[in-house]
Formats: sequence, structure tokens, C-alpha cells
Amino acid sequence: MERPANSILTIFGASGDLTKRKLIPALFDLFQQKLLPEKFAVLGVSRTEYSDESFREKMASGVKESRDQETPQSETMSNFLKHVYYESIETENTDEYIRIKKRLENLYREYQAGGNTIYYLALPPDMYEKVSLNLKQQGLQQQNESGNWKRIIIEKPFGYDLTSAIALNHKLHEVFQEDQIYRIDHYLGKETVQNVLAFRFANGIFEPLWNRNYIHHVEVTGAEDNGVENRGRYYDKSGALRDMVQSHLLQIVGLIAMESPPSFNPTAVRNETVKVFQSICQMTPEKVLHNVVRGQYMASEIRGEKIPGYREEKNVPSDSRTETFVALKFYIDNWRWGGVPFFIRTGKRLPTRVTEVVIHFKRTPHRLFRSQYTSYSSGNKLIIRIQPDEGILLNFGMKLPGAGFELKEVSMDFHYSDLADIYLPDAYERLLLDCMMGDNTLYARADAVEACWKFITPILDTWKENPEQKIYGYPAGTWGPREASDLFEDKNEDWRYPCKNLTGQGEYCEL
Ligand code: BG6
Repeated sequence: MERPANSILTIFGASGDLTKRKLIPALFDLFQQKLLPEKFAVLGVSRTEYSDESFREKMASGVKESRDQETPQSETMSNFLKHVYYESIETENTDEYIRIKKRLENLYREYQAGGNTIYYLALPPDMYEKVSLNLKQQGLQQQNESGNWKRIIIEKPFGYDLTSAIALNHKLHEVFQEDQIYRIDHYLGKETVQNVLAFRFANGIFEPLWNRNYIHHVEVTGAEDNGVENRGRYYDKSGALRDMVQSHLLQIVGLIAMESPPSFNPTAVRNETVKVFQSICQMTPEKVLHNVVRGQYMASEIRGEKIPGYREEKNVPSDSRTETFVALKFYIDNWRWGGVPFFIRTGKRLPTRVTEVVIHFKRTPHRLFRSQYTSYSSGNKLIIRIQPDEGILLNFGMKLPGAGFELKEVSMDFHYSDLADIYLPDAYERLLLDCMMGDNTLYARADAVEACWKFITPILDTWKENPEQKIYGYPAGTWGPREASDLFEDKNEDWRYPCKNLTGQGEYCEL
């Protein structure tokens, strides 16, 4: 594979968790595979005081912690760390960027990087605008005619609602051109998410069925078994709808529902996903009432262990009405999908961690066998398992051997793990490398982010304006409020449950 041009990665917020747990381990993996530029350096920038040496030690421990089994070879590790540097600044202070400028100029010389830089903002969102303006003050965003480049990667959340997302895009565009801005959504970096494109557009079998004539409904689940951990402060202002649906799960819907792009280039692919987001039917307050169910996990006991409720978590108010679970039904108003309901469900403290898409195909027009549809409601299902146990399963009915015509649901499975010697790269690995190569296919474009917020914001507004709208408590370790099943009009339909509830303890209630 062609290696990217020599460059420097400047990480703002480098003393934080993301750098240690995700970015540096991903860069180390790329380094081991010799995929980084020939000459490459990382410049960590943050307020905390570190020397290059003490920052390197912190980063080394991050790599070790994130690679549970294999301790990285120490020689490779020390070679890698030689490329890591640190500069402590008051990020809000414009004058301090003069030091960044000098440091970068030295690094450009040393690494023959010709001024190529990626600025990675691993910072709280309220800093994005300030940092990009400070970069501009020192001319650090400028690309010159000799072809050097400056790119900026912005972490989620990108805005808080439609208005703030538009305002942020506007501010960023005062400093950077759209093709310099890389809005990261780490779900797009997941190998299995990208595989949706290959599965759909490299195979002729499924595409003819991929529309309202053959698909009954589409289900997208992003379940997590952990709670909010130490992120209560952030999460309580965000909630499941912003945290998971606005970004990750809608991006998956984009790939599932898009038309085939005319070619596999960033503009063509992103033009198609944005059309999906723009075609999602907006929710009226009335629809929010009927098509969205929200919940919050309550204390329970799982295998003898007491699990705290959301309101007992650190930095969460004891009367919080933030949703840790949300399930919704919506429609995509276009020729391919008109009338096909899409269901999204996500939550914390559910029984297991699983992200999957289930395509439910329509039933046969005529029921020939008596037991048909009694054992399985929607007939054939295609399950795209994003994580864990990445793979694709196709479910269909078969005759049970013996007298009569009893049917049973069986499956044809493909597991990524069956591909011997295949290494599944971490999402950040893929995305960082793409940015170095100047490929923004797997990054969200301004119009896509805004279109997603346009769909999400009326739901948030309805909740805000009608605080009495129900929020259901569900015991930690269960599949969320029972009311989520009411989103299906046909009472024979329900969500797919990859496993059972973990507990019978705890209460379901209205909060
Ligand atoms: C993050 C959310 O963006 O994605 C977290 O803020 C969530 O709340 C995480 O846990 C899920 O990512 P993954 O890759 O573990 O499925």
C-alpha cells in the first residue's frame, strides 16, 4: 500500500483519555505495520505539564493497557516513542500558539514534512471554535502553493442541536475549507460498517431485494452492557439520542439505505448518504409521542452483584430525566424505502454489548405450510453483526426431518473470525490513516451532520417542551422498557433479542 506523505499529527487535548486509550495505540499499530509516513511525528499539546520523556511514558502505558494480552515489543515501542513530542500550553491563549508554531517548524525540518499537519481536537466541544481561531491567528491553517496541507479532525459531539451544529460549521469554515475538515465518527471506521458497502454493492444477489417491495422493516441495535462509568457529567447533558443515534447509528442507516454511488470516491459516496439523511421524515410532537420510547436504567442485581441505577452514578443528579435508552421508529421518504419502517434501539446497561442491523424480509405472499410464521414472525432475516463476533447471518425456514411439514428457522453464517490470519484494524487506525491520505469518505460532511441534527432536534425539543412525556425506568441488565415493543404495529413483531434479560430483579416503572 502507498504510504502517506511525511507529516506531523498535532493532538490538542493530548493529556486526556482519548489520546492515551485510542489515538496513540492506533498510531502504534500503524507504526508496527509500517503504514505511517516514512517520516512522521506526533506533537501532543495540552495544559498539563509534561516533558517529552514523561509524556512518552504515559503513552507507553496507554498502549500496554489497551493491548490486554500482547505486550508490545519493547524495541518497537521505544522506536515508536522517539517520534512522540509534547508541548504544554494554555489552549485558550492565542499567544501561546507562537510556541506551537515554532515547535512545528522545527518538526517539519527534522521530519522533512514540508508543513503537512493534521490538527486533532481531542477536546471538549466548547473549545473547537476557540482553538481553530487561535490556529488562524498564527496562520497555522494556511496551506501554500507548494502543495503542503493542513487538516483538522473534530471529535463528536459535533454540536448540541441543529442550531449549534450550523453555528459550529460556520465558525470552522471561517478558518478551514470544507475539504480540510474531518468530522470523525468512529463507527464509520469499523471494518464491519464499511463492509456494508462491499456487501451491498459488490454482490448482485441482495441488491434486487433491497427495497420496499421485499423488505418489511429494518432494525438497528446498538446495545451496551456497561453504564455511564465516569462520564456522568458529559452523559447527563447528552443522553442516548445525542450520544449514539445522532451520530453512530444514523451513519449506519445511511450506508444501509443509500443508493449505489456512481464511483467509489469520497464525494460520490457522501452525496448518496446525505440524500438518505435528507429524506428521513421529520417527527412532529405527535409522532414523538407515539414513535419514540425513552428509558433510564434503575438499580438491579445481576449474578449477585448490585448494579447502581443511573441516578446513583457519579456526577448524575438524583432527579435526572436523561435517557439512557431510546427506541424509535421512522421512515425514509423516497422511492426505495417509502412505507418501510426503520427501527433504532440503543441503551446502556442492557444485557449484552452488541451492534447489529437486521433486515427483515417480507413474508411469502401465500402461507403454504401450517407452521409457517408461527415459529418466526418476519420470515427471512439478514443480520449484519457489526460487533462483537463480526459477521453476517442469513435466517430462513427449513423443513424439520420426519413426518409432516414442521418448519424451523436455521441460519447460514459468515464470521470474520473464519477468515484465517485476518487482522481487524481498530476504527481509529483506519480513520487516522485515511486522513493522512486525504481521503474523507469515512468522515461526516457538514451537510450530513446538519441533516442528522435536523431529524434529531425536533425530538429533543418535544421532550424539552413536554417534560411530562414519559420516561420509563428499566432494571439494569434488561432489554429496556417493555414499551419499546409497542413501536411495532403488528403484535407478532418484536425486536431481535440476541440474548435474554440478565435479571428478574429490579423494577420497571415510570419516572
Ligand atoms: C461513543 C459514545 O461515541 O461511543 C459512548 O460516546 C459509547 O457512550 C461509545 O459507549 C460506543 O462505542 P463502541 O465502539 O464501544 O461501540
